[in-house]
Amino acid sequence: MSASVPTTQIFKDNIFAGKVLLCSGGGSGICRGMTEAVLRHGAKAVIISRSLDKLEKAAKEMRESTGGEVIAIAADVRKPEQLEEAVRKTVERFGHIDYLINGAAGNFLAPFENLSYNAFRTVIEIDLLGTFNLTKAALKHIKASKGAIINVSATLYYTGTPFQQHAGSAKAAIDALTKHWAVELGPHGVRVNGIAPGPIESTVGMEKLGPQFDATAVPLQRMGSVEDIAQSTVFLFSDAANWISGVTLVVDGGHWLNATYPGYPDFILTPLQGKL
Ligand code: HXC
Repeated sequence: MSASVPTTQIFKDNIFAGKVLLCSGGGSGICRGMTEAVLRHGAKAVIISRSLDKLEKAAKEMRESTGGEVIAIAADVRKPEQLEEAVRKTVERFGHIDYLINGAAGNFLAPFENLSYNAFRTVIEIDLLGTFNLTKAALKHIKASKGAIINVSATLYYTGTPFQQHAGSAKAAIDALTKHWAVELGPHGVRVNGIAPGPIESTVGMEKLGPQFDATAVPLQRMGSVEDIAQSTVFLFSDAANWISGVTLVVDGGHWLNATYPGYPDFILTPLQGKL
């Protein structure tokens, strides 16, 4: 049963007691699952994204499902002043910030011809600059707590996946930031890692990038679950990972290694048939 979805009880309940997580994109999908897992293990959390209504609803549901303390703050990761305000409110409420997840992302499939100057810039601004902006805003607090950062990456650029140059370039640069920050912040006791999820079921990303995904293209023969990424997050923030920094952990059932599998491009191309 090695390929089954992990249960929620792998790590001890309260390993993050007293810790505070700040997560961009934490209102939905993978980042919500990452936040929920950290809450389940005793931390408090602040989730930020653009839509306050969506965030408030997610925060309420997470309070109910975990019994943890989580608040929502509306902020656009493209706006440094909004992030500085979000950080200020987080510290005012909880006193410190120990963990940071840079998860806010935007994406769509677009052939080069259809990718406008503004479309490319928009994704770079959300994914790459958003990661820089939030980390810069929270930096002194993460250093003060000798905390840890997880940057959410992706595998698609490893193989130059078609119609993904905007997000792929952003994620490649985010992986570079993970390394630069690991080296620069390591002497301050801060660990910096990434997680690169493969195809995760029931997420906006999959809806946009591969609604007809064929799970037999994954060596472990199933799509990923949000819980797969959540457990990796708990691991990377936990003391079990105390000597791990500068790594982007691929959590994809071996999927990207199968990129030359003859059926691989279908998950990109099938939804686009007749539309290009
Ligand atoms: C071509 C598109 C497009 C599409 C938008 N644009 N959708 N171009 N094909 N399907 C263009 C617009 O025409 C516009 O350019 C520019 O992009 C900005 O669009 P706006 O709608 O004005 O921007 P905004 O409201 O800020 O929305 C950002 C967004 C949106 C990225 C376009 O989709 C969004 O907010 N998404 C957030 C949720 C999301 O996508 N999650 C999936 C993450 S999955 P013009 O020239 O017309 O002005 C993920 C996996 C990573 O990240 C994999 C990495 C390899």
